Amino acid sequence: MTDRFPIRRIDHIELYVGNARQAAAFYRHAFGFRVAAYRGLETGSRETTSYVLECRAIRLVVTSGLAPGHPAARFAHAHGDGVAVIALEVPDAAYAFAEARQRGAAGAAPFGDERDAHGVFRSAAVRAYGDTVIRFVERRGYDGVFAPGFEPHGAPEMPADDVGLEAVDHVVANVELGQMDRWVRFFAETMGFSEMLHFDDEAISTEYSALMSKVMQDGAGRIKFPINEPASGRRKSQVAEYLDYFGGPGVQHVALATRDIVETVSRIRARGLAFLPVPDAYYDDLGARVPAVAPYVGELARLGILADRDEDGYLLQVFTQPVQDRPTLFFEVIERRGARGFGQGNFKSLFEAIEREQARRGNLVEAVAS
Ligand code: FE2
Repeated sequence: MTDRFPIRRIDHIELYVGNARQAAAFYRHAFGFRVAAYRGLETGSRETTSYVLECRAIRLVVTSGLAPGHPAARFAHAHGDGVAVIALEVPDAAYAFAEARQRGAAGAAPFGDERDAHGVFRSAAVRAYGDTVIRFVERRGYDGVFAPGFEPHGAPEMPADDVGLEAVDHVVANVELGQMDRWVRFFAETMGFSEMLHFDDEAISTEYSALMSKVMQDGAGRIKFPINEPASGRRKSQVAEYLDYFGGPGVQHVALATRDIVETVSRIRARGLAFLPVPDAYYDDLGARVPAVAPYVGELARLGILADRDEDGYLLQVFTQPVQDRPTLFFEVIERRGARGFGQGNFKSLFEAIEREQARRGNLVEAVAS
């Protein structure tokens, strides 16, 4: 079988932020990213400043606008800091763009090739949920540090302090009530994704709120995009809180894979990043539910790491608090030991933990009758 929409990997994830310099310092400090490249006034960019942050296969780009009318500035004004672009490396960007457009995707940036001394860099973009775009990037003709206009970061680099993050595992969207299936169809029809899992509101509900989720994956099974929508509950759901503060649908969290979550989370915690607190009771029966972790449940409890298993193995995961003032984007760190799921067994305790934080923010209010 040939994959009609081949995708090599998630090339990068670009955040539009209010202050790219400070965001770059945060991501470097908290997650051990290296600043690999820079584009700004000094490199001839008059409208935006960007820093490219790398750690193994993970590439985050933080960009801010230098004038209020620039789309990056407008995005940050409307949504706060958040994911604006999910870039996919494809073998042929013109083909990917034409295919996606022909199958119904709306264009966000026309196909174009940019050239510099390092070759030709081809890209195009289509619109996804909210103000998020999917960018197709073709790198075969380009060997520069990131893309034309970017230069290796000139400032003296702080010593790399790697925490062991390896790759982007999945990228999760929150969309409005009734819109999940629309975006499921979007990824299926335009890019040939298929549904690998779904969770209904029976599976994902607490006393107060509920959500539904479907996980879409690409033809090669490497790229996974879960899509959540709120379901009705007694109180405002975490997805509804996100939609209120983000001002519409967008990326809820990005999961980063590690091979040693205990080591990675120990190092990230030492840098001061806050994670969702997990109640002690969660660990009482964890060794029975996931026998593989029984020997080190105490260590997991100390670090607030959750564990779950499925028919293929087990996984360990942990969730940060939101990484900006608005209760919107957060990160997950995940170690997979065979398991291909998303920690379904943790949803209830995870959502209860999120709701405790929502209540502290004054946002776990009664749902408005409609
Ligand atoms: Fe996740």
